[in-house]
Amino acid sequence: MIGRLNHVAIVVPDLAAAAESYRSTLGAKVSAPLALPEHGVTTVFVELPNSKIELLFPLGEESSIAKFLENNPSGGMHHLCYEVEDILAARDRLKAAGARVLGDGEPRIGAHGKPVLFLHPKDFFGTLVELEQA
Ligand code: CO
Repeated sequence: MIGRLNHVAIVVPDLAAAAESYRSTLGAKVSAPLALPEHGVTTVFVELPNSKIELLFPLGEESSIAKFLENNPSGGMHHLCYEVEDILAARDRLKAAGARVLGDGEPRIGAHGKPVLFLHPKDFFGTLVELEQA
C-alpha cells in the first residue's frame, strides 16, 4: 500500500544553520524557508535525487514541535512520510487493522498542498508516520 518515501522530517534548533549545513557541508539543494502557520512550523526542504528532507522549526506558541525541541534540544528525526495513492482507502485499511490515526482522522492539507494524515508512533515502532496522497 505505501509507495515512495516522500520525505524524512527533522526538527532543528536553528533553521538557518541547519539549512546552511545541508547546503555547504552536505552539498544539497536547499529551498528558502517557508512559513506554514496552520501547521505551526517553518520548513526548509532539502531536495535529494530520490526523496526530500524537511527541516522543521517551531512557528508560534501553539506549535506541536516546540515540545519535541524541548525534549530534544539538539534536534532529531520527527517523522517519515510515505506516499499513498488513496489516502481515505489507506486510512480505512489502517483503522481496520487497529492503527491509530491522529487528530479527527480526516486528512488535512500538508506542506506540499496535498492531503496528509499522521499515524500514532506507538503503532509503528516508535516512529511518527505521515501519509501523503501522491
Ligand atoms: Co512531513
